[in-house]
Amino acid sequence: MMSTATQLYRIAILISGSGSNLQALIDARAAGQLPVEIALVLSDRPDAYGIQRALNNKIPAVCIPLVRPHDPDTRAAWEIRLADLINLFAPDLVVLSGFMRVLSPAFLARCQAPAINQHPALLPDDGGEVVYTSNGSVVPALRGAHVVTDALRLGLPITGCTVHRVTSRVDDGPILARTEVVILADDTEASLHTRIKEEEQRLVVEVVRQLSIAHSA
Ligand code: GRF
Repeated sequence: MMSTATQLYRIAILISGSGSNLQALIDARAAGQLPVEIALVLSDRPDAYGIQRALNNKIPAVCIPLVRPHDPDTRAAWEIRLADLINLFAPDLVVLSGFMRVLSPAFLARCQAPAINQHPALLPDDGGEVVYTSNGSVVPALRGAHVVTDALRLGLPITGCTVHRVTSRVDDGPILARTEVVILADDTEASLHTRIKEEEQRLVVEVVRQLSIAHSA
């Protein structure tokens, strides 16, 4: 008899570090709140704890390190291997979840699935330089790898996190969701990043859930 079961929405998750957001996706799936299959976890760093989190949950996990990141030929070859491996697992969505490498337009063209990115700061809808927050303050759109420190250094009242579609522009692309986090007077980088990550974990689960529902509708 032919199976009538529909295939679950498949996601590939790219990480570079601890993988607490990956864990949130794993936990939501285990709790029956996220109808997806985590098809692959891919890291650019062999010491990323997220690899262990994936293996603990019987999720295929692969590390493809980027050696000589400043050599354009090495980098291009690395991106090809990355995209080809992702394509082999045929995900419907690629989630950049604390993946600390910029991916080029060539990667985005080769990778067959759309990608979304988690960013630990507020990004605007218009791709511009400022974000209007809910309490009326205007804060700069922080981009790059050090945005938690930047928010503190600039003395901002509010920061947050954003999930957006990945385009060829770094830390830009259509916004899918955003949450604000108030900065406290005694915040350190660690305390602020912990609160942002709590929001990021909620946000990424919700966005992936919405995309999976839209996919199966
Ligand atoms: C997150 O804050 C993400 O936005 C940033 O790196 C952190 C990754 O955390 N780019 P984890 O590896 O999911 O714990």
